[in-house]
Amino acid sequence: MKGLLLAGGHGTRLRPLTYTGNKHVLPIANKPMLLYGLEHLKNAGIEEVGIVLGPIREGVTEIVGDGSKFGLKVTYISQPEPKGLAHAVLISEDFMQGEPFVMYLGDNLLRQGVKDFVGVFERKRADCVVGVCPVTDVSRYGIVEFEGGRPKRLVEKPKASSSNLALVGVYVFSNSIFRAVKSIKPSWRNELEITDAIQFLLAEGKKVEVEHVKGWWKDTGKPEDLLEANQLVLADMQSDVKGELSGETSLTGNLSMGPGSKTVGTVRISGPAIVGANCVIGPDVFIGPYTSIGDGCKIRNVEMENSIVMKDCAIETGRRIVDSLIGSNSTIADGEKRMPKGYKLILGERSFVQV
Ligand code: TTP
Repeated sequence: MKGLLLAGGHGTRLRPLTYTGNKHVLPIANKPMLLYGLEHLKNAGIEEVGIVLGPIREGVTEIVGDGSKFGLKVTYISQPEPKGLAHAVLISEDFMQGEPFVMYLGDNLLRQGVKDFVGVFERKRADCVVGVCPVTDVSRYGIVEFEGGRPKRLVEKPKASSSNLALVGVYVFSNSIFRAVKSIKPSWRNELEITDAIQFLLAEGKKVEVEHVKGWWKDTGKPEDLLEANQLVLADMQSDVKGELSGETSLTGNLSMGPGSKTVGTVRISGPAIVGANCVIGPDVFIGPYTSIGDGCKIRNVEMENSIVMKDCAIETGRRIVDSLIGSNSTIADGEKRMPKGYKLILGERSFVQV
């Protein structure tokens, strides 16, 4: 069994954060999101993984390298344009060499991991296993419709459906999927759709099985999804303070703090929260629940809550920052001390600020 981790695509919905790097290296609880998928593949006993990358490679190759530090052998598969999930399968045929494989969408987080999917595939001698999860808005997902308890039809983003079970971003395929992805035609959005390829398997009488996801699943396409994924991961996190807390620090809830970090002066932390390595937090800081602060940040005179601050940021403002995503090397400074008063903003394209 091999792995296929998808990390191509444009990540348009996460601009401007994805202008300067690959979306799959954006941090969730201070860990690049694609590492969650890689770890799940490893935990399922997979040793060889192909990573599909588009033109935005920045970050992925630096973090993952040849995979050896994660106990994996990683091969990069180039997809110059995001022509669809089934296209990503199509270009991976040589890499698979006839072996079955788990395909994992690198922007998905799944608490359960992928081991159970592989178990169902092997036990039931299936050609395909798809993960499903109930959703309220079927028009945002690939939906699996059933007849007599068996999967019958897959529909991409239907307006309405008899089923509320959406495809999650994990699939197991036998090599029969390659005939399917070569047989289907691009959809109206000019993509080779994985739903059409699985529909092809069903039409050919191949065995398609369904695994109902246990625990949470999150697709991190949009900024609010990143914050929600961050909440889900932090809610499961244990306390682990490697840094130093000042005598005037009060802490409730779980905190993870990396080596070389410290709090200075009055600091109140209400976890779950994570602070990376080599950060200086304080004085006069409140860090509220579901906040992730990356390595090398300097945070003073600010209240923060439910936010992701990426590495090497400097934040000092008498205000409260909530529900925010702050890209690495950003500065938020106190404008109150300047005259005349006003907001001074240097923002990348498609930035969003609520003042
Ligand atoms: P999407 O969320 O459909 O696309 P995207 O990541 O480019 O985002 P946006 O819609 O904001 O532009 O992709 C799902 C996952 O599959 C994601 O991890 C990227 C990956 N992918 C590929 O690797 N190749 C592809 O051709 C496509 C369509 C997606």
